[in-house]
Parts: sequence; structure tokens; C-alpha cells
Amino acid sequence: MELNTSGIIGQSTTLAGVFKTLSKVAPTDSTVLVTGESGTGKELLVRALHANSNRANKPFVPINCGAIPKELLESELFGHEKGAFTHAIRSRAGRFELADGGTIFLDEIGEMDLSLQVKILRVLQEKEIERVGGSGIKKVDVRIVAATNRDLENEVKAGHFREDLYYRLNVIPLHLPPLRERGGDVILLARHFLTKFCEKKGRTPLDLAPKTVRILQAYSWPGNVRELENFMERLSILTDGNVVTPDDLPDKILNQVADQDLTEDLAQAPAEEVVETAIVSQASAPQSTEFRWPDLTDLEKLGLSLKDFLDTVETRIIDQALQKASGAKNQAAELLGLKRTTFIEKLKKRQQ
Ligand SMILES: Nc1ncnc2c1ncn2[C@@H]1O[C@H](COP(=O)(O)OP(=O)(O)OP(=O)(O)O)[C@@H](O)[C@H]1O
Ligand SMILES: [Mg+2]
Repeated sequence: MELNTSGIIGQSTTLAGVFKTLSKVAPTDSTVLVTGESGTGKELLVRALHANSNRANKPFVPINCGAIPKELLESELFGHEKGAFTHAIRSRAGRFELADGGTIFLDEIGEMDLSLQVKILRVLQEKEIERVGGSGIKKVDVRIVAATNRDLENEVKAGHFREDLYYRLNVIPLHLPPLRERGGDVILLARHFLTKFCEKKGRTPLDLAPKTVRILQAYSWPGNVRELENFMERLSILTDGNVVTPDDLPDKILNQVADQDLTEDLAQAPAEEVVETAIVSQASAPQSTEFRWPDLTDLEKLGLSLKDFLDTVETRIIDQALQKASGAKNQAAELLGLKRTTFIEKLKKRQQ
């Protein structure tokens, strides 16, 4: 089956693993529990799951269990009969009934009260619901998908989450890795959002200066894709000129990245490791003395455009030359076979 990833952008191997599980589990009726830090794309993934299921043209009904006051959540989920409580002036179907034949998405399930958790367990086991104030039960055919950014195993230990429900939900766990573990996806997503917001605002698409690319790649993105998305929107409004330079970045990012040694940090990033193996002559690797030209697969692994790839390579080699020449520009230029003026030009461009 061809997987429709419904706008989920990314080419990192960590995300590819998630897609692989998704393609296997989507066409089944199994219950799925999606975990991951805030902003990692849990909702997007659940929508993709529904879109790739046999229920795709039946309803997809999301409900945020953390956003609805607990007194109302039960009637929201299961519906109520007229007169069930003071304001129940007429009968109303709940989300489970609305989702019949399709998928219900119980978002932030970790926030749900223990008393309601029992009722969810009952739907999972018996496939039936009862409206609040109702006298009878109704059969429903609903696939349940839940998500949380909490560690439910800890919640179980702490007595906040029912163990039986946890096991029932966690039939197929899907974990979304944080953005900082997705290598080149950071830049892929940054470009995607930047282009999208610039288009929306009718301005020329902004480019990222090579140094900006390195900083964005080194930042830890605690708010994950959501943080990146909001940040790119901000840049699309505030950046003068057509290139985003480090000066355009907020202190929050600059300070964090400056606290680390950028070059050291980049050497640890998985994406950069690929550049390293691709670029640096493998003469340095003990097992092989053969040089290998980088190829398209390297770009794909990194999720970088040709331009970013070449810029990164150039920046790295320039850094090495400067280091070898102990900062002497004449000598570094010579090592690179460049005229001094051309070399200085390149250094200036990097500092933009
Ligand atoms: N891989 C991705 N490609 C494109 N957009 C993404 C990706 N991941 C997340 N987004 C976007 O980032 C934002 C946050 O994603 P989403 O709401 O799915 O995250 P979440 O994990 O449900 O977060 P929370 O735990 O805070 O509810 C959304 O606007 C979503 O469209
Ligand atoms: Mg969400």
C-alpha cells in the first residue's frame, strides 16, 4: 500500500521508522497509542493513520481530554439524555456515536480522570457505550487512537492512570522522536515553513545563511516542530532583506547555541556525521583508503538541498584550512587554492 503521509515532512531515519510502523498498523483496527513531546506532530500522525485506514471516508472525531472540564467530558464523549442534568434540555449524541464507523482520537488521554478511564476501558472491551442519564447501551464500531505527552508508565506507577487501560491502549505504540533527534529534518522543515509563510505574505522566499543553518541545526528545539513553525512565521514578518542571518535570530536560540561549542556540537549531530563521512576523504578512516564522492543519497539522508549541502561542505573546509593555518588568511587561502581576495569575500559572506 502506498502510504499517504498527509503533509508530515521529514526524511530522517528516525521518522522513517515511524512511517514504517504506520503503514503496517493503519489498515488494521488495532488501538494505537501515540507518544512524544509536545509539538512533535502527534495529531498530524493520528490524522495520517486515519487517512490510511479502511475507515478513511468515515468520520474522524478528535477530542482533547485535557481541554474539556472533567464534569463535561463524560457527556461530550458518551452523549446524554434529556434531563440527565440541569442543562440537558435535549438529548445529544456524544463523540463516540458521531465517530461510528470511523476513528475517535482521544488526545491528551493522560489528563483523563480515573472514573472516566473505566468507561473508556469498557468501550474498548465491549464496543458499547451508554449516554449520561441513559437507560440502555448502544453498540458502536469505533477505532480508538489515543495520544499523550506524558509518560503513562510513570502515571500508572503513581496511581493516576489505570494499568489495565494502559495495556489496552498500548497495543501498538507509536513514538514520535523529538525534533532534535531528526537530523537534517530541522532545516527541511524550516525551509518548508519559511516558504509557506513568505508565500502567504506575498514576499520573496527567504533564504537561510549558512551560519543560520548551523545554528538552527544545533539548537535543541524544546517546543519541537510547533516551535520551529512559529519561529519561521516570525522570521517571515521581521526579517529585512532576503536572507535570514544570525542577527535575525532571537537571543533564546543564540544564547543556547553559544553556550555550546558549535563546531563540537555539529560534530555530534547525526546529520553532520554523514557530511563528514561523505566529504572528508576516507583516508582518515582506518578501514578504507578510498575516496568517495558524495552523492544524491547523502543529500537525501541529510534532508538538505544541494545548495545547503555545498554551503556546509564549503564552510567546513574553510574552517579546517583556517585552523591548519592557525588563522593566517594568506596561508589558508593558499591551502584552498584561492586568491586571497576571493577567500576574504567568502569569509565575509559567511558572517552575513
Ligand atoms: N513532520 C511535520 N511536518 C510538517 N508539519 C508538522 C510536522 N510535525 C508537526 N507539524 C506541525 O507542527 C504543529 C504541531 O503539531 P501537532 O499539533 O501534531 O503536535 P502534537 O504532538 O499534537 O503537540 P501537543 O502535544 O502540543 O498537542 C502543527 O501545526 C503541525 O501541523
Ligand atoms: Mg496535540
